[in-house]
Amino acid sequence: MKKFYLTSPIYYVNANPHIGHAYTNIICDCLARFRRIKGENVFFLTGTDEHGEKIQKAANAEGVSIESFIDNKVDVFKRLWPKLNISYDFFIRTSWQQHCEVVSKVIEKLYEKGDIYKSKYSAFYCVGCETFWTSLQLVDTDKCPECRRQTEKIEEENYFFKLSKYQRWFKEHLEGNPEFIRPKIRYNEVKKFLDGHPLTDLCISRPKKRVSWGIDLPIDKNYVVYVWFDALINYISGIEYGIDSEKFNTFWPADIHFIGKDILRHHAIFWPIMLKALGLEIPGCIFAHGWWKIKEEKISKSKGNIVNPFDLIKQLSELLGIDEALSADAFRYFLMREIPVGADGNFSLEILIERINSDLANDLGNLVYRSINMVQKYNKGSVAASGGEMPSEFRKSILNLEKYYDDFMAAGRFSKALDDIFALIGIINKYIETTKPWNLKKEKKEKELLSFLYALCEGIRIISIYLYPIMPKTSFSIQKQLGVKDVSFSGEKLKWGSEGRFLIKKEKPLFPRVDVS
Ligand code: MSP
Repeated sequence: MKKFYLTSPIYYVNANPHIGHAYTNIICDCLARFRRIKGENVFFLTGTDEHGEKIQKAANAEGVSIESFIDNKVDVFKRLWPKLNISYDFFIRTSWQQHCEVVSKVIEKLYEKGDIYKSKYSAFYCVGCETFWTSLQLVDTDKCPECRRQTEKIEEENYFFKLSKYQRWFKEHLEGNPEFIRPKIRYNEVKKFLDGHPLTDLCISRPKKRVSWGIDLPIDKNYVVYVWFDALINYISGIEYGIDSEKFNTFWPADIHFIGKDILRHHAIFWPIMLKALGLEIPGCIFAHGWWKIKEEKISKSKGNIVNPFDLIKQLSELLGIDEALSADAFRYFLMREIPVGADGNFSLEILIERINSDLANDLGNLVYRSINMVQKYNKGSVAASGGEMPSEFRKSILNLEKYYDDFMAAGRFSKALDDIFALIGIINKYIETTKPWNLKKEKKEKELLSFLYALCEGIRIISIYLYPIMPKTSFSIQKQLGVKDVSFSGEKLKWGSEGRFLIKKEKPLFPRVDVS
């Protein structure tokens, strides 16, 4: 069985999650579910990044112990993921003993190899981004180029990892693997950065007198490990690197690391070089998505414009009068349809509701509701396959999905896949209007009416399979309402005529319209 290992970034626990964090995990989940229904052995890792100055400061500001502060925040993330229908396989915490041991082993190994050394260090540090900058990179004299916050000038003795030693190898790797960083714009960004800057070695320690909350540096107990060096290692410790584990042998290298574009340098440069130095294989792809913004400002705690995903799901569920599991699907749909993964998008409740009203209520919800009603009304709630072929009107759309859907999904082009699914939804809605089943009934055209009803149900069932990775609860609900015998999202069930009989179980509309007047 083919394996597929994908990861989300691990989230800082200095604050509660917002919809930007939710976005990364929803992208991962759509791909994980798609790969699973393709029959692959999928491992989806997510978790939390719990060390470093930023978290130490956040706990101090609340006047609580760091341990209880992080446990509390981790609990919020752990409650959020099921609410958003996220099907991860393992949740890693960097405070986990097994992870800390792997980090120590990695450092010892690199030190023995001569890839770590001690030296004087001077740079400008942004606590918010947990990142060092050189004076040339700063903006407005002393501000962080990423988040524009004030940096601190730091001069101290530290330990360094020899990034520079691997520069030539890395450039060759990049040139030979144009798919290593996606989308192309991010690949070009990293290439350009390398062309313009010789790599400087990475400072991987923090003196305990300044930052105490971290993993002890095994080669010098006066230091802790730099939080990014610690965090990146989660991608191997999360699958049990270093303990001769079957899991690691099965899943490494990662097939895809999904990240936001703000953490590209750490993943696309530091991480592959760390792996190369360790003698491990390099991941297949680093995929950087864009940002959700509000009125063109990135959503972030520091900007104070966050949207809390728990509140949003609750609000949608109340507005629509539907289960939270379905309102989470509506939110997932919006995020995946509105922008291609890689681009930035603007979020507002108004645009979200417009999408729900037009696509989910008018198109999808209406199609399911009225089809089920017609089976109920014209044939007492059941309809069997009559051996008829797929209506010719559906053919082009279904062929399109058969031809392109897998490639779109595999490439993370979810909005393209959704365009094609919704084209089919539109065709079936139109088919109802042109066939006019009410006339077939009046004219007692029994056979035509039955094949019409079957075609509707079969078309909707096929749509539910295509929708599954993005809207899992909705797909399940559709198949339940159709009375599909063994609910399944497997590709084999995409064959027209796979379901012999539908026994309708009518429920309220999936997505009612929200009245915005
Ligand atoms: N802890 C590091 C990642 C370490 S991975 C080894 C980190 N954490 S974070 O909590 O700040 O961000 C986690 C992810 O959320 C990143 O991929 C980031 O891009 C994403 N997002 C945070 N705000 C976002 C938006 N407004 N929009 C989209 N994604 C954003 O960085």
